[in-house]
Amino acid sequence: MSKNVDDLFDAARAAQARAYAPYSRFNVGAALRGASGTVYSGCNVENAAYPQGACAETGAIGAMVNAGERRIAEILVVGDGEGLCTPCGGCRQRIREFAAPDTPIHVAGSTGVRATFTLEELLPSSFGPENLTRR
Ligand code: THU
Repeated sequence: MSKNVDDLFDAARAAQARAYAPYSRFNVGAALRGASGTVYSGCNVENAAYPQGACAETGAIGAMVNAGERRIAEILVVGDGEGLCTPCGGCRQRIREFAAPDTPIHVAGSTGVRATFTLEELLPSSFGPENLTRR
């Protein structure tokens, strides 16, 4: 995957800087490209009632849907630290709703993309909207 994702990285970094993460102190940014080419971003928004916090990917997906788009062409997540900031399990499923098995998921740190996976790699044999299609 050598496509240029500088615009996604820049948008995700800007979102990461706006994260509200006073409890974990782990700021995350996400940016995705919709099928139209438009970029949508989000940051994590934590809550004093811990389980009510939302991940960065959730915000980016909400922005996409609110703009009238339904397909994720690719998505980038940025977080600091040594470990790769891969999407959590719940967010893998949220991405899956609007993406294809080969949709790239880029994982970045402060200096750029560190790894790229496909959705299928991160969420194999997944359950999705097709499962609910009635004959
Ligand atoms: N977080 C995200 O926003 N996205 C991820 O992919 C991993 C985790 C957030 C949730 C929480 O606010 C903080 O990072 C620590 O888990």
